[in-house]
Amino acid sequence: MTEKELDNEIQASLKRIENSLPAIMPRLSEDMIRDNLMSDEFLDFVKVNMLPIEQMMTFYQCAIMQVETKFKILNEQFSLNLERNPIESIKSRVKSYESIMRKIRRKKIGLSVEDIEDGLNDIAGVRVVCSYIDDIYLLADCLLQQDDVTLVERKDYIKNPKPSGYRSLHLIVEVPIFLHNEKKSVKVEVQLRTIAMDFWASLEHTLHYKRSEKEFTGSEAEELAGELSECATEISRLDKRMQEIRNRITEL
Ligand code: GTP
Ligand code: MG
Repeated sequence: MTEKELDNEIQASLKRIENSLPAIMPRLSEDMIRDNLMSDEFLDFVKVNMLPIEQMMTFYQCAIMQVETKFKILNEQFSLNLERNPIESIKSRVKSYESIMRKIRRKKIGLSVEDIEDGLNDIAGVRVVCSYIDDIYLLADCLLQQDDVTLVERKDYIKNPKPSGYRSLHLIVEVPIFLHNEKKSVKVEVQLRTIAMDFWASLEHTLHYKRSEKEFTGSEAEELAGELSECATEISRLDKRMQEIRNRITEL
C-alpha cells in the first residue's frame, strides 16, 4: 500500500467513526453517567447534601400551613360576625426546586441554606383571593395584628399598580414554626387580591410565559400587553363599583 493509499484509508476510517458517533454518543454518555456519576460515593454525596435542603422545604411547607390556618380562622370568625366569608379561595405553593435554582442564578445568591433563606422571600407562597377590595385590607390588618406575625415587607400594587397593570397586595411575613426542640422563624409571601385581579394575573402570566417561549412576534406581544393593560383598568373600576354597591346594600 502506498503512503497515499494509507492516508486515504485512514481518512475513510475517521469519517466512518465520525458518522457513527451521533448514534453511539447517547449510549456512551448514558454509560458514563451510570458508571461514574451514579457511583455510591456520588449518591451518598447527594443524600447528605440534599438533606438540609429537604428540611428547609419542609419548614416552608409548615409555615404555609400556619399562615393558611390563620386566614381560615379569620374567615370562620368573619362568617359568624359579618355573616359572610371574606375569602373566596386560598392557593398555596412551595416554590419548585427548578424555580429556586433559576432565581439563585439570576440574583447571584449563595448556595448555603442560610443564603437561600436570606435571599429568597417567596419560597413559601400563599395567595388569598377575596371578592371585595376592602376585605383584602381587612384581612391583611388582622393578620399583621397577630403577635406572632412579623412584617418584613409590604408592597401595595393595588394603590400603585405595576406598569403591566398588575394589582395585588403583597406582604412578606415571618411566622414561627415549632419543631420538637426549637422554634424557627420562616418567611412567607402572601399575595392578596380580588377574584378579578386573580383572573387577570393568570392570563397575563400566560402571556409572559408564551412570550418567553417566543410563540408570537414582538408586536403581537406588545398589542396583547396593551389590551391586558386596558382590561386591568376596567377590572379596577369594576372592583371599585362592586365595593360601593356592596357598601350601599349593607348600609340599608
Ligand atoms: P421577584 O424577584 O420576581 O420575586 O421580584 P419582587 O421580589 O420584586 O417581587 P414582586 O413583589 O414584584 O412580585 C412577586 C410575585 O408577584 C411574582 O412572582 C408574581 O407571582 C407576582 N407578579 C408581580 N408582578 C406581576 C405581573 O406583572 N404580572 C403577573 N401576572 N404577576 C406578577
Ligand atoms: Mg418576590
